[in-house]
Amino acid sequence: VAPLRLGLAGLGTVGIGVVKIVQTHADLLAMRTGRPVVITAVSARDRTKNRDADLSGYAWETDPVALAQRDDVDVFIEVMGGHDGPAKAATEAAIAAGKDVVSANKALLAHHGQALAEAAEAAGRLIRFEAAVAGGIPVIKALTEGLSANRIKRVMGVMNGSCNYILTRMQSEGLPYAVVFEEARQLGYLEADPNLDVGGIDAGHKLSLLAAIAFGTKVNFDAVELEGIGAVSIDDIRHADQMGYRIKLLGVAQMSGRGLEQRMTPCLVPKKSPLGQLQGGTNMVVLEGDSVGQIVLRGPGAGEGPTASAVMADVMDIARGLRLPTFGQPAATLADAVPARSATP
Ligand code: NAP
Ligand code: HSE
Repeated sequence: VAPLRLGLAGLGTVGIGVVKIVQTHADLLAMRTGRPVVITAVSARDRTKNRDADLSGYAWETDPVALAQRDDVDVFIEVMGGHDGPAKAATEAAIAAGKDVVSANKALLAHHGQALAEAAEAAGRLIRFEAAVAGGIPVIKALTEGLSANRIKRVMGVMNGSCNYILTRMQSEGLPYAVVFEEARQLGYLEADPNLDVGGIDAGHKLSLLAAIAFGTKVNFDAVELEGIGAVSIDDIRHADQMGYRIKLLGVAQMSGRGLEQRMTPCLVPKKSPLGQLQGGTNMVVLEGDSVGQIVLRGPGAGEGPTASAVMADVMDIARGLRLPTFGQPAATLADAVPARSATP
């Protein structure tokens, strides 16, 4: 059986996690998909960097566009980051060259996911992005497969591990923001530009993707009402605690009479509730369907292993020949979301 050949663009936290799974779980991947899954070529900026992995068997491309166009690549994996520049150019090049794409890059997808999905469908290719939302939690699969017979009423949750880590460590240890921010960086949770995390933008990107999937609309990141955690002080956290609450960066997407509401803002949640008890880099996504009722998904939202696990789940679907479209329905049929901003806090 012909192997599925991967071209891996990005050898940072997520990319090295992907290398490790492909190398250590080769038998399992082949057994579960019916064919070998191999990396043929990789790309990063600095070839001399020590990356804690054996990359000697892979071809090297410094230019990710060249990697995307290689004849020995079937699936292009984009784990570089950035919503324009090389990530966008290489993803477009991969689709144009007839490759399926797997991405963890929520910034790219929130800004250009609609156009990329339409281009992929026109070319008969797939672009899959389970890892882009809530790290290791299979939330996109839950929406597109497990809950596909439901009308989704609401999507809610904590979708940024860094912010949850920072807020919970400030609360539990009384540590200053700067100290816990550095801890989050050491754990590999933070984006290359950490303002995306603490500004709520990264979580807003994820919410806009989930909302499009849940409600069958085009991705509309510009309509997300956003506020980050930069203004949350230790005093705020203490006062909330005294009143029986925790402060969480909480996302909510729901349809109202005024259209799709999307909010990602710091909120008070009861400290004894499941959301109030969510610790560290953990994410929690609550999905409400008209038939199923409420589903709660909880798990690691960031980091090497969890994110690579989600990337490889998409790769394995492709290896098995599953051709579910990006948003669970053809991108060309997605409806325009009417932007709505809620007056409620
Ligand atoms: P990272 O550790 O900063 O790694 C980025 C990698 O991309 C590095 O290997 C870098 O090369 C390479 N790269 C950057 N620009 C490049 C360019 N112009 N040409 C070639 N290579 C380039 O990032 P990460 O944490 O792995 O995140 C990667 C993506 O996954 C991002 O989109 C992020 O939002 C997403 N994501 C991350 C997590 C997480 O927990 N970290 C979770 C979910 C999704 P050098 O090493 O040579 O600098
Ligand atoms: N920076 C992101 C977070 C990585 O902290 O949740 C996972 O998407």
